[in-house]
Amino acid sequence: MYTQLQLRGSARPPVTVATLQKMKADGEKIASITCYDASFAALVDEADADLVLVGDSLGMVVQGHDTTVPVTLDNIIYHSRAVARGLSRPFLMADMPFMTYTSREKALDNAMRLMQDGGAKMVKLEGGAGQVGIVEFLASHDIAVCAHLGLRPQSVHKTGGFRVQGRENAVADQMHRDAKALQDAGADIVLLECIPAELGKEITAELHVPVIGIGAGPDTDGQILVLYDVLDITPGRKPRFVQNFMVGQESPLAGVKAYVQAVKSRAYPAAEHCF
Ligand code: KIV
Repeated sequence: MYTQLQLRGSARPPVTVATLQKMKADGEKIASITCYDASFAALVDEADADLVLVGDSLGMVVQGHDTTVPVTLDNIIYHSRAVARGLSRPFLMADMPFMTYTSREKALDNAMRLMQDGGAKMVKLEGGAGQVGIVEFLASHDIAVCAHLGLRPQSVHKTGGFRVQGRENAVADQMHRDAKALQDAGADIVLLECIPAELGKEITAELHVPVIGIGAGPDTDGQILVLYDVLDITPGRKPRFVQNFMVGQESPLAGVKAYVQAVKSRAYPAAEHCF
């Protein structure tokens, strides 16, 4: 019944927002990965990932769409529920899909469903200054939130594709302001996707909440990759920041362990993965 209390003193206590904050303060890198089902959830747990995301990337790597736009709330709930069953130690975050947070009330109802029906402990939404009010509203209801900046896949039809963001000074300056505003609004984590490494470093240093990067250089507080990219399952051309961790490994578990170790030891990302 009092599982949280019982596990607190164990060798592998469950990761919480406080754990992630302490990891930032201690300079311990946060190893994060996406996951979409219970079998892989048990595997990423055993590999000692700290943070697991049921990402709307499932629209691309599981459903075969060319963007994340078609993913629905029910899709994320279905996968999140399965992942939650397989996890014990990592902190579980679930994506709020396209157009599921267009108003405060809608965001609150949908975040509630991700937590109550999907078993998520934190919700992630994409956006900058426009989402500050939404993040503030969710945080005021004690919902843990991750704010996703930089390349925002739900906006690719507006922004012009999967491209590095923040190379221009004006865009970089806006990203600094957005990250700070989202933190001040109550975001517990900021996630930066596909931005110059220097910008990732600066924003990480400016924020007191943990910053997780994907293609954002080596200096963010943690890294996240899509599980299928780590295991080299995704067909076709891969983004520059992807590394195949199956090289020299004999099993998917060994591959995910290699990824977690590479993040912890700062071997990943290397210069060739950065913008
Ligand atoms: O949906 C997803 O997998 C993500 C990661 C790429 C961070 O948002």
